[in-house]
Amino acid sequence: MSKQFKRTTVTAALPYANGPVHIGHMAGVYVPADIYVRYLRLKGEPVVFICGSDEHGVPITVRARKEGCTPQDVVDRYHSIIKQAFKDAGISFDIYSRTTSEQHHKTASDFFRKLYEKGEFIEQTTEQYYDPEAKQFLADRYIVGECPRCHSQGAYGDQCEKCGSTLSPEELINPVSKLSGAKPEKRPTKHWYLPLDRHEGWLRKWILDDHKEWRSNVYGQCKSWLDLGLQPRAVSRDLDWGIPVPVEGAEGKVLYVWFDAPIGYISNTQEMCAANPEKYGSWEQWWKDPETRLVHFIGKDNIVFHCIVFPAMLKAEGSYILPDNVPANEFLNLEGDKISTSRNWAVWLHEYLADFPGKADTLRYVLTANAPETKDNDFTWKDFQARHNNELVAVFGNFINRAMVLTHKYFEGKVPQHGEPTDYDMATLNEFADVKSRLEGYLDTFRFREAQKEAMNLARIGNKYLADTEPWKLAKTDMKRVAAILNMSLQIAANLAIAFEPFLPFSAARLRKMLGMNDFKWEQLGQTALLPDGSELGKTELLFEKIEDDAIEAQIKRLADIKEQNRANEFKPAEIKAPTSIEEFDKMDIRVAKVLECQKVPKADKLLQFTLDDGTGTPRTILSGIAKSYPEPEKLVGMQVLFIANFPPRKLRGIESQGMILSAVDADGQLVLVQPSREVKNGVQVG
Ligand code: MF3
Ligand code: ZN
Repeated sequence: MSKQFKRTTVTAALPYANGPVHIGHMAGVYVPADIYVRYLRLKGEPVVFICGSDEHGVPITVRARKEGCTPQDVVDRYHSIIKQAFKDAGISFDIYSRTTSEQHHKTASDFFRKLYEKGEFIEQTTEQYYDPEAKQFLADRYIVGECPRCHSQGAYGDQCEKCGSTLSPEELINPVSKLSGAKPEKRPTKHWYLPLDRHEGWLRKWILDDHKEWRSNVYGQCKSWLDLGLQPRAVSRDLDWGIPVPVEGAEGKVLYVWFDAPIGYISNTQEMCAANPEKYGSWEQWWKDPETRLVHFIGKDNIVFHCIVFPAMLKAEGSYILPDNVPANEFLNLEGDKISTSRNWAVWLHEYLADFPGKADTLRYVLTANAPETKDNDFTWKDFQARHNNELVAVFGNFINRAMVLTHKYFEGKVPQHGEPTDYDMATLNEFADVKSRLEGYLDTFRFREAQKEAMNLARIGNKYLADTEPWKLAKTDMKRVAAILNMSLQIAANLAIAFEPFLPFSAARLRKMLGMNDFKWEQLGQTALLPDGSELGKTELLFEKIEDDAIEAQIKRLADIKEQNRANEFKPAEIKAPTSIEEFDKMDIRVAKVLECQKVPKADKLLQFTLDDGTGTPRTILSGIAKSYPEPEKLVGMQVLFIANFPPRKLRGIESQGMILSAVDADGQLVLVQPSREVKNGVQVG
């Protein structure tokens, strides 16, 4: 860090209150932000951690319409679910407020009016889509049509969810209004624009020259935006949910959600300071003092708003500081597929916490170990279980448990007398002597995965130390050495209780309780006399308990069911084929036959060989490519099927196939044999 700062303001992206928070949000934003804040607090640095719900915007109104309630009902519901889940996950905000608060409405209106009065906006009248039946202008999300890129139906005016293209409503083929189904028409409407082009000069220098240390994904995205050239951006919308545009002649218009939401960071800081002035002082020091460092934790879809638009707003206002860093993460996938709220393809935080009570730390641990810091990453339940059982239980938990149990057994639960370190002890001490500086190096540069690995390494050192020194074998012969070994082990345990505080706050607190550590500081990390000889330990508890297979299988099953549901929902019948005639159909000789034998064709993973009784007295052989759908072909024996009898025979894998068996292709691609609804004579015709 080149510049010395007096205090840090940390913000975490305000989650939309149109649904609960999922593990992707946690991995991308809230867990890393919380680690960072806990680290600064542990170092005794002044820091505030600001968040809240983002309660405006079109998706909330869409949801309300769908559920037949008001937007306020929607945000009230999700605000409390989200707030509680964050608390239970140990995300230690200094404030979690909301953008429907009175304070926020006032702060955001004032902010807009100040820019308006300073002449920082331009006014422009443009043609926008209007729904003549619902009698209102349509936000991009309210217009659906055919995607101009992939030609799937149901693309939104801002984005096609099928192919992921960013769109503008004008590009949609055959646009219709989602409100009424009417064909929208263009009508003129006036809006206020933030002329980003006027800010391009200083933004280029500020980011591209002065913030080369930003993460390469962040820097790179900013650079490509800047290189494309910045355009004025509308900061108002025609909508009835949001903060009214506070100037005359703006009836029916509200602030664009991306204008008001980042101001929420400021409003929430104001609310926090007003509620507790002794602790937090004036809100201005957190936002206006150049000696304050501002850090925004966000996901990659928020980069342009936090690195370009919001800084331009702050600069235009004139009295605010700009962010010093914006450590944005890439995305976390779930079992190989993109997390999607609309497809319910997610692990919801509040559901995780209910399904795995007392295991918030495990989720934090796994999400940090797989943090999508430099590229998209994948969460799988198997990996979750393996990391918990093989790392938290088998290494960290096992070490603590052995050190505690042995101390209780041999020394009545009191920290035994330390001894002269042996050469082996010295080697172990050396291994973790610089753990503090290594951790700091990673944490100061937002490399949380590496930082957590470093903390875990300390547990590995401890575990190995106990395994190598085997104090239980020395108990008969050399109690002095046993005391020294356990003393050293407990000192490592005490180090772990500090090092893991940012990552696993619940477990670190339990560990400190077991070790009888009342006060602790980051500064003590790496020291070997944290627990005085003779000090009393608490009761031994298991720090982590094994996660059994059935808990994991239940989660995997849940996801499989969702996938199945999505497939079923998505099925659309194919287009009707070109017209044909009864004469054409009559040429087909379709008959019923009974399966006499059925088996897999060796070395052909798709083929089943059927032997059929087609009523002629001569068994008929037909090969059918349905083996993947029928893993147990012998079960088909005795069933009646339909087949085409007059296809010319052809050879496959050296076997002659005499016709084709009919099956339906289900929505998920499974092939399903078609059979008569009651038994008929073998060989009868179908027509
Ligand atoms: N609600 C937005 C999202 O989930 C983030 C808003 S961040 C803020 O993508 F800066 F606008 F608050
Ligand atoms: Zn598309």
